[in-house]
Amino acid sequence: GRRWTEIGSLDIELAGSTVLIRGAAQTIRPVSKKMVFLVVRHYVSTVQCVLVINKECVSPQMVKFATGLSKESIIDIEGVVSIPKDPIKGTTQQVEVQVTKLFCVNRAVPNLPINIEDAARSEMEFEKAEQTGEQLVRVGQDTRLNYRVLDMRTPANQATFRIQCHVENIFRRFLLSEGFVGIHTPKLVPGSSEGGAAVFKLDYKGQPACLAQSPQLYKQMAICGGFGRVFEVGSVFRAEDSYTHRHLCEFVGLDVEMEIKEHYFEVCDIVDRLFVAMFDYLNENCKKELDAINRQYPFEPLKYLRKTLRLTFLEGVKMLKEAGVEVDPFGDLNTEAEKKLGQLVREKYDTDFYILYRYPLAVRPFYTMLCYDDPAYSNSFDVFVRGEEIISGAQRIHLPELLTKRAEACGIDVKTISTYIDSFRYGAPPHGGFGVGLERVVMLFCALNNIRKTSLFPRDPQRLVP
Ligand code: 4AD
Repeated sequence: GRRWTEIGSLDIELAGSTVLIRGAAQTIRPVSKKMVFLVVRHYVSTVQCVLVINKECVSPQMVKFATGLSKESIIDIEGVVSIPKDPIKGTTQQVEVQVTKLFCVNRAVPNLPINIEDAARSEMEFEKAEQTGEQLVRVGQDTRLNYRVLDMRTPANQATFRIQCHVENIFRRFLLSEGFVGIHTPKLVPGSSEGGAAVFKLDYKGQPACLAQSPQLYKQMAICGGFGRVFEVGSVFRAEDSYTHRHLCEFVGLDVEMEIKEHYFEVCDIVDRLFVAMFDYLNENCKKELDAINRQYPFEPLKYLRKTLRLTFLEGVKMLKEAGVEVDPFGDLNTEAEKKLGQLVREKYDTDFYILYRYPLAVRPFYTMLCYDDPAYSNSFDVFVRGEEIISGAQRIHLPELLTKRAEACGIDVKTISTYIDSFRYGAPPHGGFGVGLERVVMLFCALNNIRKTSLFPRDPQRLVP
């Protein structure tokens, strides 16, 4: 057969050779009745293709046909790779293709609801256009999500979801190398695990049930079951009421649970090494993707230390107080206080990534271990990127009597979680773990301002479609 060439691998070394390529007709620019330029895109690569009438292979009908193609139609082109006289602007490939044959594989409708070039523009381009009086169309978030298959085609989006895939992959790879076992826990469950009303209720063959709010109780039961160290990558469901830039009703949870020998800092050590390895990997191996995101949504690279900074909750409270922000030393930090603390930490320690530990017990779920020296506080932590939470973790209570007491104190009907509590009666080691939101990691590593940009088909309180 024929040799297909990927658009991304068209380069000067191929000059003079005939290639066969497939892609989407991103732009169609006729310069005369005799000549038309096409920009053809595949994945994140684009190449300029030129049709000029000639006796051998390009007829006037062919030029007319090319001129009449609709944008985003899938086309096959056979042509000769050539080096243009002037460098080409606006394509990723520096060579062009002199077309000899053209086929339309599948025609797109003529009036697309989103123009990919508009969807790919940066805010800076819009501002410039406003000054020069040029008319450019901004594509709103809802339009993007309504027509996600079109929106996904922008270089920044193609890059975002490739980065997401790498984050998940590093998570697995790192934990496997540290002796963790990947598990899967049920998503159809009898009740809530993180407390609160934020569950999607459903009918399970006549029994009340809900979608799992987290794998929390089951990953702990796997520790009771003797696995020692486990992780899970899976869907997490939260019936969030609030419509914010960082909450979804369904997200991908990266969960970890492990035995602790002496101190819950062993869990923080895993967080520390895992995330330094992940950030290093992204910076070293995803330069093209990060550049693509940067071109549309410029951002400063994440600052992180070789050994992740750890501050106690009360140190955080003190820093905030000194900056004029009063917060309750026995309460939780609100979003604003977290953001402010992120700024203060950056100024003082030159890092965008840090661990805040020893939270007040009252603001943590019932299963959280209390501090041995002060039961108003807990052996727990949150991890922040650019002043926003990406992880929460803790040592768990492995003593059934204390667990029962804490569940009751938190208003939980212990009958509903009796199999979970019983798991700790058969010999259960001290343990702890953490949960990470995949979409938040990508959003905050790339300083994107909305979690909907890092979820392929986001589910929020107002969106179930597409
Ligand atoms: O803080 P959360 O609720 O903690 C737990 O689920 C615990 N079981 C974790 C543990 O092992 N202790 O959720 C963990 C992480 C958050 O830090 C955040 O990154 C993400 O999950 N997350 C959300 N992401 C998107 N939309 C939402 N509604 C989220 N809620 C939490």
